[in-house]
Amino acid sequence: MDNKVIIFDTTLRDGEQVPGCQLNTIEKIEVAQALEALGVDVIEAGFPVSSPGDFNSVVEISKAVSNPVICALTRAVKNDIEVAARSLQHAKRKRIHTGIGTSPLHIQYKIKTTPDEIIKRAADAVKYARKFVDDVEFYAEDAGRSENEFLARVIEAVITAGATVVNIPDTTGYCLPEEYGSKIRYLKENVSNIHKAIISTHCHNDLGMATANTIMGVMNGARQVEVAINGIGERAGNTSLEEVAMIIKSHHDLGVHSGINTKLIYSTSRLVSTLMNMPVQANKAIVGRNAFAHSSGIHQDGVLKKRENYEIIDPVDVGIKESTIILTARSGRAALNHRLELLGFNLGKEELDDIYHRFLILADRKKEIKDEDIKILAGDVFHGEKSLKLETLQVTCGKKLIPVATVGLKINGELHHATSTGNGPVDAAFTAVKQLISKTVHLEEFLIQAITKGSDDVGKVHIQVEYNNGIYYGFSAHTDIVTASVEAFIDALAKIQ
Ligand code: KIV
Ligand code: ZN
Repeated sequence: MDNKVIIFDTTLRDGEQVPGCQLNTIEKIEVAQALEALGVDVIEAGFPVSSPGDFNSVVEISKAVSNPVICALTRAVKNDIEVAARSLQHAKRKRIHTGIGTSPLHIQYKIKTTPDEIIKRAADAVKYARKFVDDVEFYAEDAGRSENEFLARVIEAVITAGATVVNIPDTTGYCLPEEYGSKIRYLKENVSNIHKAIISTHCHNDLGMATANTIMGVMNGARQVEVAINGIGERAGNTSLEEVAMIIKSHHDLGVHSGINTKLIYSTSRLVSTLMNMPVQANKAIVGRNAFAHSSGIHQDGVLKKRENYEIIDPVDVGIKESTIILTARSGRAALNHRLELLGFNLGKEELDDIYHRFLILADRKKEIKDEDIKILAGDVFHGEKSLKLETLQVTCGKKLIPVATVGLKINGELHHATSTGNGPVDAAFTAVKQLISKTVHLEEFLIQAITKGSDDVGKVHIQVEYNNGIYYGFSAHTDIVTASVEAFIDALAKIQ
């Protein structure tokens, strides 16, 4: 058996029919060209009879793309097939995908006919499509809930009628992986002419089993998989292309390969998500924001020692530059030190201990510590042992209260306290500090700035003081803006000393 798995992408058909995901023809061409670069073998470009827009998109995609087979969907209806054939006139390689429901439910309640009539209509549709193209795929809609024996009769009839590919959709995403796998095996073993056609999977994700079912299909003899970028598609979606491609690449034990250039997976995923206005969930396998992000200390330490400890895929293989270590209150020294090194800081153990201590305090107040925060934390270390250091600060302020501040200041290693009032908490604290340092300084500039957005963010304070005709600058950052202000003031005073 050929070990190549044909990748049939239905992002532009099953995916595009999702409410809100509609694309115009130009956007569809952009996606089709990205799919061609990605290495998909078949692009299902649309359902031409459904609208003039869909018809036109199939025409234009056929002109814009050369390597993949361009496929157009139809019902088992003559007019659908004629329209599909016309839409494919410019395609270098073309396929008509026709089919009909085969489950008891579809036969009785949707099509309202008999099983024998289904077999006849299926075979007639394939025969008719073969008048226009050499490559005809037949889908047995709701094959997942169809009886295997009847399904085998339908498949045998359509292959006799000229089908080159037989698609076994789990239209409602109901099958268990073992059940879907044995359905494919049953067809392999019980359809006498099955060797004349390729078996295709088309699994929906209603119970979250689309990828598992697709792989079980491949393990039991299917050699085409119908997939969509980011797993988009009707209801809970289709099997996602990126998951199947990476399973095939990672599991050599499956003994199959695909033509996907996996390094283009991430960019294609972003393109589809952006154009279709369909965000990718953060924890989506392969392409989600967190797919290569490590946040617990134990995992971060393990990944830094050897990436493979917690990653089975090299992010570079899917077009992501590198894994990310998210610095939070759960991060350890190893992760912090790694980030410091990336930012150009090489610290000794004591300096690292000092930063780590302050990092944890900050991380308890902020969800995530960013590079800006780290630079500020690291910057503090390099001031060395200060002649002036704020040890404690207590302020009382509020509406109809007189602001009072008590500062504990270490001057050359010795702790001193002072209390003062002021016109606000910062003024009260500055006045208390001034009481402890016998110098007359003038505040020239006082600038407060939030580093990022939220109320839990760090505030930066820049201060400029004048003393004896000299200008001295002070800086600090803290989630508590009063503390940041007093520290910045003391930073400037320390430079005078
Ligand atoms: O889910 C399905 O059965 C389909 C067919 C039209 C192939 O999308
Ligand atoms: Zn479908």
